[in-house]
Amino acid sequence: MKAKMTVNKAFPVAPVDPRIYGSFVEHMGRCVYTGIYEPGHPQADAEGFREDVKALVKELNVPIIRYPGGNFLSGYNWEDGIGPKADRPKRLDLAWKTVESNEVGLHEFTSWAKEVNAEVNMAINLGTRDIDAARNIVEYCNHPGGSYWSDLRRKHGAEKPFNIKTWCLGNEMDGPWQIGHKTAEEYGRIAAEAAKVMKWVDKDIELVACGSSTSKMPTFAAWEATVLEHTYEHVDYLSLHQYYGNQKNDLPNYLAQSIEMDNFIKSVVAICDYVKAKKRSKKTMYLSFDEWNVWYHSHAKDSKNEPWQYAPPILEDIYNFEDALLVGCLLITLLKNCDRVKIACMAQLVNVIAPIMTDPMGNAWKQTIFYPFMHAANFGRGTVLKPMIESPGYDCESFKGVPYVESIAIYNEEKGEIVVFAVNRSQDTALDFTVDAQGFDMKEVLDAQEISGHGIKDVNTNASAPVAPKQCVSAVKVDKNGLQAKLQPLSWNMIRVAVQ
Ligand code: AHR
Repeated sequence: MKAKMTVNKAFPVAPVDPRIYGSFVEHMGRCVYTGIYEPGHPQADAEGFREDVKALVKELNVPIIRYPGGNFLSGYNWEDGIGPKADRPKRLDLAWKTVESNEVGLHEFTSWAKEVNAEVNMAINLGTRDIDAARNIVEYCNHPGGSYWSDLRRKHGAEKPFNIKTWCLGNEMDGPWQIGHKTAEEYGRIAAEAAKVMKWVDKDIELVACGSSTSKMPTFAAWEATVLEHTYEHVDYLSLHQYYGNQKNDLPNYLAQSIEMDNFIKSVVAICDYVKAKKRSKKTMYLSFDEWNVWYHSHAKDSKNEPWQYAPPILEDIYNFEDALLVGCLLITLLKNCDRVKIACMAQLVNVIAPIMTDPMGNAWKQTIFYPFMHAANFGRGTVLKPMIESPGYDCESFKGVPYVESIAIYNEEKGEIVVFAVNRSQDTALDFTVDAQGFDMKEVLDAQEISGHGIKDVNTNASAPVAPKQCVSAVKVDKNGLQAKLQPLSWNMIRVAVQ
């Protein structure tokens, strides 16, 4: 069977904002403690952060990391995480029913983020706290000195400000599970006031208001419209969160869930533009898809957790091959929408629904979903070209006419290359795939890698990573018609071509 993608140099979607390859570190489970931070581990640095984990985070090339939550955020006092570690309080975290030691806080996390070459996307608590705590944390982090909070930062060892640019105004405030859950009116009001005073402290920061926790929320759409009525002129991004799962063990339907992500993004764009029109605003609202991933494998185990443990192993989904394929489709979907999605954070980074796993006092290792993310974050840089896809397809429970091929091409002018990401959703048919890149002269294949040929439930472990990319350059060629590649059944593909 044949499939084709046509792109044209004259029809770009937009330049990719590198922050679309963001990640997320929450104080929960073993993400921080025994994840990124484990003093006493043979690979721990002088501050207690694991070098082996840092190396894998750098391999992923994550440019921005949202912190410190998540649901945890809505009960968090940021002041608990500053000053001498011995004086920091242990607190009950009501979101995850665990004990938070506060050994890692603002200073430790910002310096770790710098080491892994990532910016911090800091979230402020609008669950139990108010605009006073919000303006104070901006002063602590970003004001140079000569005021109470900035001088306290300097006293705690950071002479220079952290200069954190991107800030989230709370987390999932539409969810009844959230500590300090609010109506859209209540949240819209406090978010607007917090935004106002935060920007008065530092006019250069950018702010993300909370959208819905999933598109399935009963308040979805009305929530966005009301929140934006209050915040439109104060904030820069609206957030989206969505997790996916194959609970019904229905592979065709599972792999089509990226269409749901696409519909969600397009609906939120429409709401943003409705409010823009209503307000006669000149400003365009951008999107921050700041929690997305597969999350369902761990649900049954987590329902039996004992409360009030320190760093318990919760939300430890072990990802299989089909999850890597869906993650590939989701990444392509984010790229297709990069004219409006400027930030996206795969949730989370280590141990908790994560591409990187660690064993306490043992190895750090790569889950199956590590690889498509690594390919996209390292090579998906430049300008996304509008894809016209011709592909055979299938019907499934949720959608009709799902194309077998999900694909995108990105033109990296600086490097003189086009990068193609493609997933073949067909379980049994290899596809002869052509990329007709109009306006480009395709010179040679620089690299071609695929993940294919695995059982759909195959996983990686701390001892071996069978689900990993392999070279397939011989299956790809360029000629006067463009790029010709064989996409194996159920495969993720990354192809780089030199162009003029
Ligand atoms: O990432 C896990 C949780 O999912 C986050 O804490 C919360 O924001 C979302 O519901």
